[in-house]
Amino acid sequence: MLKFALIGAGRIGRMHGSIIAGHTKTELVWVYDILEDNAITTANTTLARVAKSLDEIFEDDSLDAVLIASSTETHAELIVRAAKAGKAVFCEKPIDLDIKRVDWCREQIQGLQVPVQIGFNRRFDPSHRKVADTARDGGIGNLEQVIITSRDPNPPPKEYYLASGGMFRDMTIHDFDMARYVLNEEVETVMAMSATLFDPVAKEIDEMDSAMILLQTASGKMCHINNSRHATYGYDQRVEAHGSLGMIRSENQHQHSTETFGAESSSSRAPLHFFFIERYRQAYLDQFDAFIETIENQQQPLVGFEDGRRALMLANAAYQSLEKGQAVKVDFGE
Ligand SMILES: NC(=O)c1ccc[n+]([C@@H]2O[C@H](COP(=O)([O-])OP(=O)(O)OC[C@H]3O[C@@H](n4cnc5c(N)ncnc54)[C@H](O)[C@@H]3O)[C@@H](O)[C@H]2O)c1
Repeated sequence: MLKFALIGAGRIGRMHGSIIAGHTKTELVWVYDILEDNAITTANTTLARVAKSLDEIFEDDSLDAVLIASSTETHAELIVRAAKAGKAVFCEKPIDLDIKRVDWCREQIQGLQVPVQIGFNRRFDPSHRKVADTARDGGIGNLEQVIITSRDPNPPPKEYYLASGGMFRDMTIHDFDMARYVLNEEVETVMAMSATLFDPVAKEIDEMDSAMILLQTASGKMCHINNSRHATYGYDQRVEAHGSLGMIRSENQHQHSTETFGAESSSSRAPLHFFFIERYRQAYLDQFDAFIETIENQQQPLVGFEDGRRALMLANAAYQSLEKGQAVKVDFGE
C-alpha cells in the first residue's frame, strides 16, 4: 500500500481524502489542515490520523506521497518541502498565482527525483480525453480548430473572487491546460476579451464575469475558449475539435440519462450537473489512478509541473492582451 498524507481538507481536499482512503492501492495516514476541525472531519471519515504539524508529515519516513489541496498561496512552498523530503507530490492547480513563485519552486525542485503531478483533472475526463486522443491520432484528419466552452453554474461569493487571483488564473487556467492538451502543439499567440455582464459583485470589485480568448499555435491551429461565471442550465463543459476529415466533441453530462417526449416537445432531458465534483467524478478518480501508476512505474506524470507553469503563463498573457487591446506572443522560456 502506498502511504499518503493529505494537506488541506477543505472542499476539494475532503474529496481527495476519500479517494485516497477508498483506493485499493493507497492508505491515507495523515491529514493536516490549519483549521484542525477540517482535518478532524476528514480523518474521522477516512480512519487517518490528524497531524499536529507539517513536520510530523515530512519526518515520517514511511510516507510515499503527499497530496496538497490547501489554499493556493501555500502550494509552492509545500511542493518544495514535500519534494525535498523525497515524497511523490500531487498538487492542486494552480501552482501559484505569481509566476515568480512558480519559477522559484521549479528551481528548488530541479533535479529531485520525485514526480510532481498538477491537478488538471479535466484531462482525465473520459470524453474530453477521447477528443484529445482522436485529434492526436488523426481520427479527424489534420486538426484545425478547438472550441472549449466552460461556464460555471453560478458566480462565486465576493471573498472567493478576491482570493482567486482573477478569472484567468483561477478558472480559465483549466481551459488553457485543456487547449494545450487538445492542440498538442505549443500556443504562440493569445488574444483575450472580457466583460462584466451580469454579476453585481464582480462589478463592485472590478472583476470580469465573462470572457472569450483566442489562442494560436505556430502552425496556425486555433482554439477559442469561452467562459462565463454563470449558466442557468448548469455546469457547461464542452470540448470540440475540428479537422480536415471531421469533428469530434465532448458533450455535457446530465444528472441522469432519461429523455421525455410529449405533445409540446420531443426531447426534454434531465438538468446538467451543477457542481464540479459531480461532473468530473470519474476524472478525479482516473487522475488519481494515473498518479499511482506514475509512482509505481517511476514515470513522468501525465500532467507535470511544467504544464502548471505554462497554463499560468497563458493566463498572464491573456491579461496582457486585455491591457494592450491586442494579441500577444507567449515566450515560455526554457
Ligand atoms: N482541480 C479542481 O477541480 C479544483 C477544484 C476546487 C479547488 N481546487 C484548488 O484546490 C485548492 C483548495 O481549494 P478549495 O476549494 O478546497 O478551498 P477551501 O478553502 O475549501 O479549502 C482549503 C483548505 O486549506 C486549508 N489551509 C489553508 N492554509 C493551509 C496551510 N498552510 N496548511 C494546511 N491547510 C491549509 C484551509 O483551512 C482549508 O481547509 C485551491 O488551490 C483551488 O484552486 C481545484
